[in-house]
Amino acid sequence: MHLSADHIKTLHKYEIRILQSVEYLMNRYSLVPVDEIVKNSRLSSGEVEFRIAKLMEKGMVKYAQVPYPGYTLVFNGYDTLAVSHLVKKGIISSLGSCIGEGKESRVYEALGTGPVILKLHRIGQRSFQTVRKGRSYLPEKQHCPWVIASHFSAEQEYLALSSLQNHVNIPTPLAMNRNVIAMTYIPGDRLSESPLENPNEVLEEILSQVHAAYKRGYIHGDLSEYNVMYDGNQIWIIDWPQWVSPNHENAAEILDHDLETITKFFFRRYRISSDMDCVRSRVTGC
Ligand SMILES: Nc1ncnc2c1ncn2[C@@H]1O[C@H](COP(=O)(O)OP(=O)(O)O)[C@@H](O)[C@H]1O
Ligand SMILES: [Mg+2]
Repeated sequence: MHLSADHIKTLHKYEIRILQSVEYLMNRYSLVPVDEIVKNSRLSSGEVEFRIAKLMEKGMVKYAQVPYPGYTLVFNGYDTLAVSHLVKKGIISSLGSCIGEGKESRVYEALGTGPVILKLHRIGQRSFQTVRKGRSYLPEKQHCPWVIASHFSAEQEYLALSSLQNHVNIPTPLAMNRNVIAMTYIPGDRLSESPLENPNEVLEEILSQVHAAYKRGYIHGDLSEYNVMYDGNQIWIIDWPQWVSPNHENAAEILDHDLETITKFFFRRYRISSDMDCVRSRVTGC
């Protein structure tokens, strides 16, 4: 089910309060018993039952009987808490349509003071195992690992966007809450969809941007024709949650993979050959 602007607009303040209670109580329970929601939300049990039925209709919480009866938040509910927070803070005033849906995110158009992009990070159970690798501070036993992993993924991307601001052509980060990042809208298309008249110049520009990011301590980690946009004038590098630092133990491999992916695209599409040693030293400066 998709997050709907109408569902968010018509949310009652008690529904938000219940979502917040369930979110909070998920630290203690794998399924949150209704009595606990009543206590935590300080609403009557009749009100909680009525509101929770509405939240289930909107696909924001789920009910299960086993191992005992209770409720959990699902992605739509978590996204909703984040998006309503951004609305309350005045970052966005309306939510538009979903313009991108990947394995680990959903991207929406929205309106703030100008066009805004909302990226909802959604790391499921399976991907979480990959995110956990090498990150010992992520708790082993957490009732809702997808909440932690999705929040963590958004934080990583937000960190890269904030640090690279004014140094690399990337969207400007505007705000972050839970698993959602608000950023500026980049006009244009992905390289995979833009026929280039000047591919040599564009490849040069990409390498110079990758170099600028590297100098500031960021290797993209998923560089490809799908994560570079071109607006007819300049390129923009998007989709940063999997960045690694040049000090990471696999930094050399990850950088090589990025550079190979992008140069292979230029060879396939435009027959531009690149010498990998030159490309690598261009980016690393050694
Ligand atoms: N700031 C942005 N401006 C315009 N379009 C964007 C922006 N960020 C993402 N998109 C669109 O959404 C798609 C998915 O976003 P991306 O960050 O690459 O996430 P993922 O590939 O993990 O799903 C992009 O390919 C692009 O078409
Ligand atoms: Mg992408």
